[in-house]
Amino acid sequence: MKMKTLPKNANPSIETQQADLKKRPRRLRRTESVRALVRETVVRPEDLIYPLFVVPDNRPHVEIRSMPGVWHNRVREAVDESLRAFDAGIRAVLLFGLPESKDAIGSSSWDPSGPVQTAVEAIKHAVPQMVVMADVCLCEYTDHGHCGVLDGQDVDNDATLPLLAKQAVSFARAGADFVAPSDMMDGRVAAIRSALDAAGMTEIGIVSYAAKFAYGFYGPFREAAESPPQFGDRRTYQMDPANVREALREIELDIEEGADMVMVKPALSYLDVIRAARERFDLPLAAYNVSGEYAMVKAAAERGWIDGTRVMHEILTSIKRAGADLIITYFAVEFARSS
Ligand code: PBG
Repeated sequence: MKMKTLPKNANPSIETQQADLKKRPRRLRRTESVRALVRETVVRPEDLIYPLFVVPDNRPHVEIRSMPGVWHNRVREAVDESLRAFDAGIRAVLLFGLPESKDAIGSSSWDPSGPVQTAVEAIKHAVPQMVVMADVCLCEYTDHGHCGVLDGQDVDNDATLPLLAKQAVSFARAGADFVAPSDMMDGRVAAIRSALDAAGMTEIGIVSYAAKFAYGFYGPFREAAESPPQFGDRRTYQMDPANVREALREIELDIEEGADMVMVKPALSYLDVIRAARERFDLPLAAYNVSGEYAMVKAAAERGWIDGTRVMHEILTSIKRAGADLIITYFAVEFARSS
């Protein structure tokens, strides 16, 4: 590259400055090949976990209004999506279930013929190499929409633990490789670990939603999972968005209780929490790029306000750069196909 010569009357101090410039970071940005050589963070399809919503077979296959590209899948579509994902390079799915019926204690969640159990079995049969994770929580299965059982208006922590354990064992029996508790009850990792071990399933892992914040960005998910709380909110069990030290304490407790991987959720406005967790703990760290974060990108791209594909790449790269090893994202297949 030739340096521009300055006109005769130019300020000589500018000329001197240019001549003395020995350090030019722009050298490493000249071409895409150079940029690729020095790229520090690369998101691989294998880093991504693809969430799937599974509905009973008598329900229609519909797209979720606030999450374009995300569907209510019957078991056959969940299998098709898993095949498509595996083909694109994705190696893990995370299943959420919408049951046929709900009650106060979420008993449909441990029905061996429930949508998650059936889908786990079918996916492991059709795509045996796919890692299948199942989300463990009561909110999709309770008629009041809270993540645990109620004692009056309160969520009863200790009474919820055996129910979560029962659900986790049921998913594991169906063939799930990992269970992922997202309820935020104290002590649930230990309760699930000992229930799995007692059932002889010592090899089934726990991905714990260790630091999960109460967050407006879960809105579209609650539409997708039909799980909004019927009264109050989740602030007595999900964390206050302002707290990072408390997040580290939550993660530490889950590791002590036997979690195999830990998660920070949501991802995008919690990149500092991901970084802090990465620096403190050695276990694989996941981050959840949640429904509202996905919906925002889709909505703005639909209006032509942003380039959706480009922003998707930036967001996933930022989450990995912050320190996440794994990213749970509705973009998984789209990303894998575009990279
Ligand atoms: C269930 C659960 C939720 C999400 C994952 N598991 C909803 C909630 O806590 O209200 C949110 C995922 C998303 O927004 O993409 N407890």
